[in-house]
Amino acid sequence: MTKSVILTGLRANNDLTLGNYFGGMLPIIEMAKARSSEYQINMFIPDLHSFTTPINHDELQTQVMNNARLFVAAGLPLDNNEIHLYRQSYISAHSELTWILDCFTGMGEMQRMTQFKDKSNKLSNDAFNATKDEQAESPLVNTAMALESAMHSSERISVGLFNYPVLMAADILLYDALYVPVGDDQTQHLEYTRDIAERMNSKFGSIFTVPLAAPKQHEFFGKGQGLRIMDLQTPSKKMSKSDESGKGVIFLSDDPKLAAKKVMSATTDDLALIAFDRKNQPGITNLLEILSLLRGTPLDDVVAEFEGHTRYGDFKKVVANEVEGFLTNFQANLSEVDDSKVLEKLESSEIAMRASANKTLLRAQRAVGLRPKE
Ligand code: TRP
Repeated sequence: MTKSVILTGLRANNDLTLGNYFGGMLPIIEMAKARSSEYQINMFIPDLHSFTTPINHDELQTQVMNNARLFVAAGLPLDNNEIHLYRQSYISAHSELTWILDCFTGMGEMQRMTQFKDKSNKLSNDAFNATKDEQAESPLVNTAMALESAMHSSERISVGLFNYPVLMAADILLYDALYVPVGDDQTQHLEYTRDIAERMNSKFGSIFTVPLAAPKQHEFFGKGQGLRIMDLQTPSKKMSKSDESGKGVIFLSDDPKLAAKKVMSATTDDLALIAFDRKNQPGITNLLEILSLLRGTPLDDVVAEFEGHTRYGDFKKVVANEVEGFLTNFQANLSEVDDSKVLEKLESSEIAMRASANKTLLRAQRAVGLRPKE
């Protein structure tokens, strides 16, 4: 009997935060390890998706390898044969199936995708602001420039960004994946994947396995604890790499001593009494949560240990030390990751995955008449 497939795209970049680590990477790795005896686990690096918005192409190779190394440093095993780790672009069936699906996908369907709307708006706004900065004060010139920048921005929004979800559907359908753990921002893409799979199946007979709908995915994976590490300076907002000052954000690449300093200068409150209270003491509460994650001990235990203490400085010192130790350790792991082992894993997974992707592709090609029927 073949095993059901769990599939996920490992999006990572070079400036991951502590929030990304605990909220994204670690849960996915633990899931893979825990499920790999009963399921086939497909983890891949979506390199073709990486330039739907502009990037520096000279850095892409390094980034892809770094992406893999980060997951390995965080504990992804390379010696588990049920966990496949591969690069999307190394399996050409992804691109080929995308084209076929493109031709059965409506423009309107893609236009409705919120991620497309958000990202394309951002690109237009950036273009508009760039033009505005250069422009003269005259209102007439303003209008002309605004028009021009609107034209420019539609040139900047790539067709790739537009049909991003089609490639994502191909990623999933090629491997008959039933389970796809996705965050809320990807739910719409999963829904589209189900729609296009059902559409093709009903037009051509069964080609694709339809992945489960989002609520079923959440049931299967558990909806997390809504884990959110907050910004150290502004604990009412999520820790995010786009934060400008970077003072409230801990990056996995931070100098451990510097990160410890960030903890020491975290915003707290003037109640001078440690309590777990998201609403009234968000800063202290965030530090309690961070400490519990770093130590890997239940939050209740950490709260019990510090509740009622009055000296925030002492408590911060504990958290700061823990952060420093964690980063020192993580960075040591990262530098020890053996690139040749990573490459070996990628290449062997790619051989196996190419074979199974090509089977599905052939089914689709036969169905649409590109290959003779069996
Ligand atoms: N779009 C996903 C993200 O932004 C990454 C991704 C690409 C993916 N293809 C996928 C995730 C297929 C799951 C399945 O996070």
